[in-house]
Amino acid sequence: MADIFDKVAGFLRESPIVGGKDRAIAESVLYRHSPLDNAGPWIEIEGRSVLQFSTNDYLGLARHPRLRQAAMEIVSKYGVSSPMGARPLTGTTELHDELERELAAFKRTEAALVFSNGAQAMMGCVAALAGPKDLIVMDQYAHASLVCGARISGARTRFFQHNDVGDLDAVLTKAPPEQAKMVVVDGVYSMQGDMAPLDVVSDICRQHGARLIVDDAHGTGVCGANGRGTAELFGVEDRVDLHLGTCSKAMATVGGFAAGDAGLMEFLQFNAPTILFTKAMPSCVAAATLEALKLLRDGHERRTALWENARRLQDGLVQAGFNIGQTCSPITPIHGNGTDAIHMCTALYQEHDIWVSAVLYPAVALGTSILRAIPTAAHSAQDVQKLLASVTAVRDACGTAPRAED
Ligand SMILES: Cc1ncc(COP(=O)(O)O)c(C=O)c1O
Repeated sequence: MADIFDKVAGFLRESPIVGGKDRAIAESVLYRHSPLDNAGPWIEIEGRSVLQFSTNDYLGLARHPRLRQAAMEIVSKYGVSSPMGARPLTGTTELHDELERELAAFKRTEAALVFSNGAQAMMGCVAALAGPKDLIVMDQYAHASLVCGARISGARTRFFQHNDVGDLDAVLTKAPPEQAKMVVVDGVYSMQGDMAPLDVVSDICRQHGARLIVDDAHGTGVCGANGRGTAELFGVEDRVDLHLGTCSKAMATVGGFAAGDAGLMEFLQFNAPTILFTKAMPSCVAAATLEALKLLRDGHERRTALWENARRLQDGLVQAGFNIGQTCSPITPIHGNGTDAIHMCTALYQEHDIWVSAVLYPAVALGTSILRAIPTAAHSAQDVQKLLASVTAVRDACGTAPRAED
């Protein structure tokens, strides 16, 4: 008789991700221990000073004293667990209300809703809004949490080719006009670093009567003149029906949020399974996130530094012949075949004291890998130069990471 756990033994025998001798090396880079203080450009690991380009601390706020102080005040008075309970019952405090008001003001929407993390915001909102009779049309590279939401919803889900607006239009054109539809995209794609062309996407949505939902996890705080995200950058804030975001990247805390019309937020409050049936965001996190949001709103200098570092790094990589794809955000993928990225990641760490994450299937297509470098506002120009020199030396020494023309 078949055992549903047979797949476990199969995975342990021969992982589809990496096999043979690469397996041991993959295991040494994935789930590797990170120090508790892991967000700064320079971190201490086993007595070594290591330069890291691996976190989404875009604005360099993770160690900011105002965030620490805000969280500590709550922890010292009320503990880590406050509020005990799920949002609808005992988990909504004045800090949650204040954070929701501030997020709505920042996103220029009527209201906002705070979740315990970003994945729950994405998953729960998509799951609540679509049902078996509806159609969800998603970019093929949409974040896994959105795809999970679509699965939970039971709606028919169609994927369009990544950032191909012609294909999006074709998929919507084929759908019955009377069927209710929503289009779901990421503002910035977390592995490729490119952006959804929201101006065109929102036009197409209007033509087909489809609602537009944007997961702007990587755009919030980073894109747009005021850091309001990719919708601000493309001038379509009022044409996005539901803005989704996370507090775990530019805001450097943890949590997720939805922002939109007040009625929509009320609906989600009572229908998103991921807010109803889970413990609320801790108050200490809400307090730190409120500080982060203030810093983010006044964060022009930090954003300028972030984008300068991103340009410095990306121009340097292109000049050195690396393939960084179509990125137009600080996310900088160095594309490679097979397990190239793992080998480069290991050599950078062991020989150059640099930590850049290697990303493998299922986060990228099977048979490919990327070295994913994330410059932040906290890196210096010298840090970026060190990464450029080291990554080029590693590539030249071991012949990994194909050149752009390969
Ligand atoms: C595009 C995108 N959406 C959602 C999430 C989930 O956010 P969180 O880490 O807050 O759960 C992430 C984080 O990896 C992401 O990259």
